[in-house]
Amino acid sequence: MKPVRCFWKRNAILVCCLIISIWFIYNKSNRSSVRNEFHSGLSNPGDIRYLINNKHVCHDYRSVFCIILVSSDITHFNRRVELRSTWLKSNNYRPKNVQVVYLTGSIDDKNVQNKLMLESQTYSDIIQGDFIDSYQNSTYKGVLGFKWVSEHCRNANIVIKTHDNVVINLFLFFEKFAMHMNDRELLGKYIRSNEIVRVKGSQYYVPTRYLKGMIYYPLPYLSGLAVILPGKLIPLYFNASITSEYFPIEDFFLFGILTAKINHDFSDTSKLKYRDLTKFITSDERYWKHCYLSLKGNCNLLIVYQELHRLDTESVWNVIIKNRIQSASGHFDME
Ligand SMILES: *[C@@H]1O[C@H](CO)[C@@H](O)[C@H](O)[C@H]1NC(C)=O
Ligand SMILES: *[C@@H]1O[C@H](CO)[C@@H](O)[C@H](O)[C@H]1NC(C)=O
Repeated sequence: MKPVRCFWKRNAILVCCLIISIWFIYNKSNRSSVRNEFHSGLSNPGDIRYLINNKHVCHDYRSVFCIILVSSDITHFNRRVELRSTWLKSNNYRPKNVQVVYLTGSIDDKNVQNKLMLESQTYSDIIQGDFIDSYQNSTYKGVLGFKWVSEHCRNANIVIKTHDNVVINLFLFFEKFAMHMNDRELLGKYIRSNEIVRVKGSQYYVPTRYLKGMIYYPLPYLSGLAVILPGKLIPLYFNASITSEYFPIEDFFLFGILTAKINHDFSDTSKLKYRDLTKFITSDERYWKHCYLSLKGNCNLLIVYQELHRLDTESVWNVIIKNRIQSASGHFDME
């Protein structure tokens, strides 16, 4: 009996060692294969066709100070009406040339498609891509926007990429932020390393085949709710997207993967950088009301958003306008 027991003992130790080393190698290769993971298989995000294209939005001008790309669900007709009459009305910002386009996907519903075509004829501000309009496809929407700017709006100084449940205080942006932008810098809500959501049904769900075995996003990025960047960088981003593996979370794809890819080719001094706007952003209604109505000229709130529900754009816009009137009138209280 003795030699047999000894044999099993020795082999058990060997098997243990083997399992431990395999585990180590697996983990290590997972960490170092971040780059490779993005290059294998699947469809090409840069290869998107237009179903509706309004080519003249920027071509009509010699230069555009700011183009705003608004990702919008195809069925959000009312939201777009509200946006066009509030913070996304170009006339608000004259003499600055501010232009706006809405990015949508497609839907298998003739009525909705006809309504969108009518909307496009009326406002000439719809860009529709040939992909199913769904939250999981928002990466395509972002790439569509970058493709469109690369092809039809190269004369834009500043590009703002945002969503239809966000309000940006552009008055404040033009007065206090725009002149300090440099051409290697992206402004937005900085995210160092969020946990990857693996729960099916979540808006941020990432199937296990992406970033396999990882718990946290391996690269920092900017939240997609609003990113402000120099127009000159857009062709770089679009070009980088052509050769990148699709990733289902838009902001990580656009501002994590693509930024890393672009920076890979740059020397340390010319690498792109993020400027964190977190302290100028809120989704808290009590806070934005207090800031705009009570702090007057001291309110530096740049971005208000809602993550899950529809943002009451009109209310936010009204307090921004009040804030401007009050700030302009110095210490006199208009109310
Ligand atoms: C995303 O769009 C592609 C192209 O239209 C489509 O095949 C796919 O089903 C869409 N995915 C989702 C989750 O809607
Ligand atoms: C476009 O991307 C390719 C591959 O990533 C790169 O080799 C090339 O230099 C890029 N071109 C421009 C104009 O950025």
